[in-house]
Amino acid sequence: MRTILLGPPGAGKGTQAEVIVNEFNIPHISTGDIFRYNIKQGTELGLKAKEYMNQGLLVPDELVVAIVEDRLKQKDCENGFLLDGFPRTAVQAEALDEVLRNMGVQLNRVINIEVDKQMLIKRAVGRRICKECGATFHIEFNPSEKVDTCDKCKGNLHQREDDTEETVTKRIEVYMNETKPLIDYYRAKGLLEVIDGELPITVVSEKIIKVLKED
Ligand code: AP5
Ligand code: ZN
Repeated sequence: MRTILLGPPGAGKGTQAEVIVNEFNIPHISTGDIFRYNIKQGTELGLKAKEYMNQGLLVPDELVVAIVEDRLKQKDCENGFLLDGFPRTAVQAEALDEVLRNMGVQLNRVINIEVDKQMLIKRAVGRRICKECGATFHIEFNPSEKVDTCDKCKGNLHQREDDTEETVTKRIEVYMNETKPLIDYYRAKGLLEVIDGELPITVVSEKIIKVLKED
C-alpha cells in the first residue's frame, strides 16, 4: 500500500494517518513531524525549517525532497508507506515520481481530505498535542478528559507554534497556491479519491479504509 494523504492544514491528515498505518501496518512519513523532531533536537535542518514553518511558509523543496528520498529507501518502506504532508508542490510531486520510478514501485492511491476554510482555522487553533506521545486532540471536537493532560500517556498537552489564527490563515493561502494544484495532477493519473473531511473522525477513517481496501 503506497498512499499519499493530501489536504489543507487542519483537514485531519495526521489524525487519519494514525488510524491508516495501524490498519495496514505501514510506516507513517510526515514531513511536518520530521521537521518538528529536528527542531526539538536542535539540528541544523531543524534550525532552517523553523524559520519557514513559524511564518506559515513552505520549507524549500530541495531540503524536503532529500529527506523523503532517504526515508523511502529505508527497509521498512519496502511493503508500503503513507505519506502525510508530502508532496506539497509540483516540484516535490515530480521528484517523488522519479524516486518511485527508480525504486520500481507505483503509488496505489492519493486520498484528498476536503474541509471548508472556516472549519480548518477552528480545527488548527483548537488543536492540542501531547508533548510525550504526540497524540492529537481538539479542545472541542476531540477533547482529552482533562484539558491539559493526555488521555493516553498523562503527558502535558501543548499548542503548536504555527497554530495561531494568523499563521494558519497564511498556511491555507500557501496551500491554495502551491499544493491544491496537485489534486488535478493526481486526478489526471487516475489515483485521486476525495473524502469529505467534515464528517466525524471515525466516519472519515471508515471511508478511507474502505477505499484503500478496494485496491
Ligand atoms: P504539517 O505538520 O504537515 O502541517 P499541515 O499540513 O499544515 O497539517 P496539520 O498538521 O496542521 O493538519 P492535519 O491535516 O494533520 O490535521 P490534524 O489531524 O492534526 O506541516 C507544518 C509545516 O511544516 C508547514 O507549514 C511547512 O512549513 C512545513 N512542511 C511540512 N511538510 C512540507 C513539505 N512537504 N514541503 C515544504 N514544507 C513542509 O487535525 C487538526 C485538528 O482537527 C485536530 O485537533 C484534530 O483533533 C481535529 N480533527 C481532525 N479530524 C477531525 C474531524 N473529522 N472532525 C472534527 N475534528 C477533527
Ligand atoms: Zn500522550
